[in-house]
Amino acid sequence: MQKRHFLKTLAGVAAAGSFGRSFAADEAKTESGAKVGRRIAVVYFSKTGNTASVARAVRAMTGADVFEVKTVKPYPEEYRRTTEIVKEELEKGIIREIAPLDVDLAKVDAVVLATPTWWHHAAMPLQTWVKVQNFSGKLVLTCNTHGGGGLMHTREDFEKLLAGSGAKLGTHLTVYGGVDEDDSDVRRWLAQNGLL
Ligand SMILES: Cc1cc2nc3c(=O)[nH]c(=O)nc-3n(C[C@H](O)[C@H](O)[C@H](O)COP(=O)(O)O)c2cc1C
Repeated sequence: MQKRHFLKTLAGVAAAGSFGRSFAADEAKTESGAKVGRRIAVVYFSKTGNTASVARAVRAMTGADVFEVKTVKPYPEEYRRTTEIVKEELEKGIIREIAPLDVDLAKVDAVVLATPTWWHHAAMPLQTWVKVQNFSGKLVLTCNTHGGGGLMHTREDFEKLLAGSGAKLGTHLTVYGGVDEDDSDVRRWLAQNGLL
């Protein structure tokens, strides 16, 4: 699993927010532990695969549907060049167009939003998608993966984007690099929020 040392500090799992269990604890469960009747969508952006690994883990544990936000014009393969381009986009307020995503939030109860950290913030392509969605009544969990900076401003970004949206904000998971499909921190995070 790719782990980039963007900053030297290592950080583990950070929990923010205080949303408790939203569903009855005695709800029926499948063999994998996922609750019957729970409809979950994971929407993520990932340039180098780390955030995609979190999406896969959530899918493996809950049976969630997974949707990847992509930019119409992809970022370059080369890592350093991507960081330079993203920096310039942020400085100049350039918003890269994203491809349409075939997800109907009206059909889900909970949404997991997962992003890489890009220059201390939630990556703009995911923010661009979040901005135009209707999250009213949804439980929304958030996650960032990072290269050493930890939580940074990613949770704040989600909180700002979702303020006044009617979403019920779950807790946030911070992941250094990527995860395996049976990652215990991911499992704990999902359970904390009543998704397992
Ligand atoms: C444009 C860009 C900016 C980044 N900025 C940060 C940062 O501010 N802090 C940090 O810890 N990691 C930073 N990273 C590293 C990524 O957050 C980290 O590798 C992440 O897990 C990548 O997720 P992905 O593989 O899903 O794209 C940056 C990476 C890129 C490409």
